[in-house]
Amino acid sequence: MMEKIKITLKVNGNACDVLVAPNDTLLEVLRDELGLTGSKESCGEGACGSCTIHMDGKPVRSCLTLALEAQGCEIKTVEGLANGDQLSDLQESFIHHGAVQCGFCTPGMLMSADALLKENPNPDRKEVRKAIAGNICRCTGYAKIVNAVAHATHPHEGCPDCGPHCHSENKGEK
Ligand code: FES
Ligand code: FES
Repeated sequence: MMEKIKITLKVNGNACDVLVAPNDTLLEVLRDELGLTGSKESCGEGACGSCTIHMDGKPVRSCLTLALEAQGCEIKTVEGLANGDQLSDLQESFIHHGAVQCGFCTPGMLMSADALLKENPNPDRKEVRKAIAGNICRCTGYAKIVNAVAHATHPHEGCPDCGPHCHSENKGEK
């Protein structure tokens, strides 16, 4: 059995020490050791984006990141987006725009989108599509997700079906 090594990292603002094997992925440690099961494993090989988290503010695929690489890093997972019971504007926008179906891709989508919005709070649709290009969704056809991210700073203004203040120009887009 491989010897475990102690690493210290900050996860969603909380400092924690955890014992990891050299070949443990960050995703395994987050889910299995820290109980943060919001981040999902789908492909396990960097192709789908469902395991996306932030490491020092940048979106990374936690299935491809060794836990050892996270030593001393600030990690943010989907569990860190809400403030207690209060969802972030981005999460509200996903609900408002119907951007969640089975939900398996949603944590990774949210983390990729959240990273975009930190750099660019009012992205256009092209910028949103580029930011989530590495996140696969098998359910929604992406249009509602793009709406949700593009309107995240106005989560209750929505798409043409949602209300009179909507800015979306893609009614009917799939
Ligand atoms: S599970 Fe990590 S990219 Fe698919
Ligand atoms: S909502 Fe099902 S994979 Fe995206």
